Amino acid sequence: MSEQTIALVTGANKGIGFEIAAGLGALGWSVGVGARDDARREAAVEKLRAGGVDAFGVPLDVISDASVTAAARLIEDRTGRLDVLVNNAGITGGMAQEPTTADLDVVRAAVETNVIGVIRVTDTFLPLLRRSASPRIVNMSSTVGSLTRQSAADVETGPLSMAYAPSKTFLNAVTVQYAKALADTGILINAGCPGYTATDLNGFRGFRTPEQGAAIAIKLATLPADGPTGGFFDDEGVIPW
Ligand SMILES: NC(=O)c1ccc[n+]([C@@H]2O[C@H](COP(=O)([O-])OP(=O)(O)OC[C@H]3O[C@@H](n4cnc5c(N)ncnc54)[C@H](OP(=O)(O)O)[C@@H]3O)[C@@H](O)[C@H]2O)c1
Repeated sequence: MSEQTIALVTGANKGIGFEIAAGLGALGWSVGVGARDDARREAAVEKLRAGGVDAFGVPLDVISDASVTAAARLIEDRTGRLDVLVNNAGITGGMAQEPTTADLDVVRAAVETNVIGVIRVTDTFLPLLRRSASPRIVNMSSTVGSLTRQSAADVETGPLSMAYAPSKTFLNAVTVQYAKALADTGILINAGCPGYTATDLNGFRGFRTPEQGAAIAIKLATLPADGPTGGFFDDEGVIPW
């Protein structure tokens, strides 16, 4: 089996995911570019390769059992194991998300991608991660999922968000459950927030660059063996639940 570290980033064709792939590639890692659209995936792989990254395309739609199973088979055939999984793919479901007139389809879609998608991908790739000497899982969450911050009177948490913010709270809870289940396996799993980053997700209103947004994922992907697990972090440190 290859000595080169092998990573998979979901939703890596653009935005923060693309920059996570670029950052991990800059470490000399082999990076799977998980993306559901063939043309967007191939363009991203080409761009990463042009920048010197050992990138390869992984067709991957996180809301499809068949797609995720096929993606795991592709990595198994190619490298026989996975060292780092970054669950980055995410959607807001569209704004505004007024709680008192909630669109249940929007709530369902956000949970399906941001939570169930992460569980589907993680459980499907766990057998490959268990073959790694230092497996790491990073879940891209958001500070809008922090109940402490959402319920603080003096903290700006953005617009009412009946789908997106609760889906990230749910994702944080899922991350803690995984950390408990995987304690003593050597697998470290953490949630990270990129900060408010200019991407398609928010109509490019964020004030951080995608490269800055990628930094926390790269940090959590490269944690030492005695690093934290089951935590929630941004560039400043621990985020309150
Ligand atoms: N931007 C921010 O300010 C911010 C703040 C906090 C947290 N985050 C989180 O950071 C992560 C990346 O967000 P971003 O800002 O980079 O957003 P983005 O530019 O909209 O990128 C989202 C990525 O997820 C992919 N995706 C969506 N649904 C998918 C599915 N079913 N299967 C596979 N891929 C799927 C998209 O692919 P397509 O191109 O095919 O749609 C795209 O590659 C998300 O989890 C987001 O919640 C972002």
